[in-house]
Amino acid sequence: MSYSKKVLKHFKNPHNQGVIKNADAVGKVGNPTCGDVMKIYIKVKDNKIKNIKFETLGCAAAIAVSSALTDMVKGKTIEEALKVTKDKIVKDLGGLPPVKIHCSMLGVEALHEAIKNYKK
Ligand code: FES
Repeated sequence: MSYSKKVLKHFKNPHNQGVIKNADAVGKVGNPTCGDVMKIYIKVKDNKIKNIKFETLGCAAAIAVSSALTDMVKGKTIEEALKVTKDKIVKDLGGLPPVKIHCSMLGVEALHEAIKNYKK
């Protein structure tokens, strides 16, 4: 299995990794099959994602997905952020090996969970 250059770049130097202490909402999801866990923290102002960070205990693809996804939605409105699909992330990363597609799903689910919790 080989990763694209972009996946490796994000994995080696992930963007937006960490915790937002006073986050407006957090989304946490896990994949029971591989055991990977992803947490996304968001700070929202004027309906825009002002800040976003992630903590991912998972594979290289899950970390690259978290990094790319957080880059993509930072500064976007909630509605725009909800339009980011797993396909868009995979495309942005220059592809993922087929067995790693579920890792991109985990990113989308974590973001949706955070937004759902924010709306509550
Ligand atoms: Fe499960 Fe990557 S192997 S998220």
